[in-house]
Amino acid sequence: MRSRGALWRSLALLSAVSVAMAIGIAAEQKPRDKNEAKPAKEKPKPADNSRCFVCHGNYDEEEFAVRHAKHGVGCEKCHGPSDDHAGDENHTTPPDIMYPADKVNAACLKCHDRAKLAKLEKHTPVWDDIAANTQHCTDCHGKHRLARRTVRWDKVTRKFLESK
Ligand code: HEC
Ligand code: HEC
Ligand code: HEC
Ligand code: HEC
Repeated sequence: MRSRGALWRSLALLSAVSVAMAIGIAAEQKPRDKNEAKPAKEKPKPADNSRCFVCHGNYDEEEFAVRHAKHGVGCEKCHGPSDDHAGDENHTTPPDIMYPADKVNAACLKCHDRAKLAKLEKHTPVWDDIAANTQHCTDCHGKHRLARRTVRWDKVTRKFLESK
């Protein structure tokens, strides 16, 4: 049979443990100050694309660009600041970043989770083609490609090709 002393000691230990646990839980559940900024998940400011709209007015309603701008991803995030391009009235200087067809999918998958997207019902039928680069994300998302080009550059070498 246990002595009285041992019983008291174990009871004391037990309550010390539960007090420590309660403090731990309280610290975890400490209600957040209403004015305190939420960590990590803070909403990004919408991107301002107005500098590009001076010439690319048709993109201010293009759903792909609009959606991304709303979440803080502007033209410059994907195409670079492109100062020389935007300042060139002759339109011979290309933007900083262009995407040949075989670079499109990889560019999207830098930000979007490949494994998650591959499982989407709308994606599974085309996922092999996406992996093989014979189908591109921009075939379905947005109307980001121009139906008609007035100026063209080689998207790989950046060489000015023609203007019409
Ligand atoms: C999230 C990334 C992203 C954003 C934001 C973005 N673009 Fe693009 N852009 C691309 C990609 C990728 C391509 C290549 C698409 C393709 O060839 O299918 C492209 C292609 C283009 C083209 C060439 C289209 C063609 O027919 O060859 C133009 C012009 C363009 N973007 C302008 C803009 C402008 C202006 C903005 C802002 C209003 C913008 N982009 C925002 C990724 C982006
Ligand atoms: C710089 C990071 C970045 C790049 C590059 C990028 N996206 Fe996004 N995209 C986002 C963010 C941020 C959102 C808004 C939050 C969300 O819905 O995930 C978004 C949203 C989207 C949505 C809307 C999702 C919904 O729930 O309605 C689609 C579709 C999309 N992106 C497709 C693309 C495609 C296609 C490309 C490549 C041409 C691309 N994205 C490139 C960051 C990016
Ligand atoms: C064959 C057409 C097609 C292709 C190609 C395609 N998608 Fe989609 N995608 C869809 C459809 C349809 C949906 C569901 C409706 C919607 O949200 O627009 C979708 C949904 C999404 C969403 C929203 C996911 C969510 O959680 O709701 C994102 C982000 C996205 N696609 C990105 C991409 C990226 C990145 C690629 C290329 C790697 C791609 N898609 C290729 C048709 C396509
Ligand atoms: C002074 C006018 C002007 C401004 C400002 C301007 N662009 Fe352009 N940009 C053009 C012209 C012209 C083309 C060729 C479009 C065509 O073929 O119709 C072009 C084409 C592009 C292309 C397609 C390149 C390709 O072939 O893949 C991208 C991307 C682009 N611009 C991005 C931008 C971005 C980003 C901004 C803002 C930082 C911007 N532009 C500002 C005139 C301009």
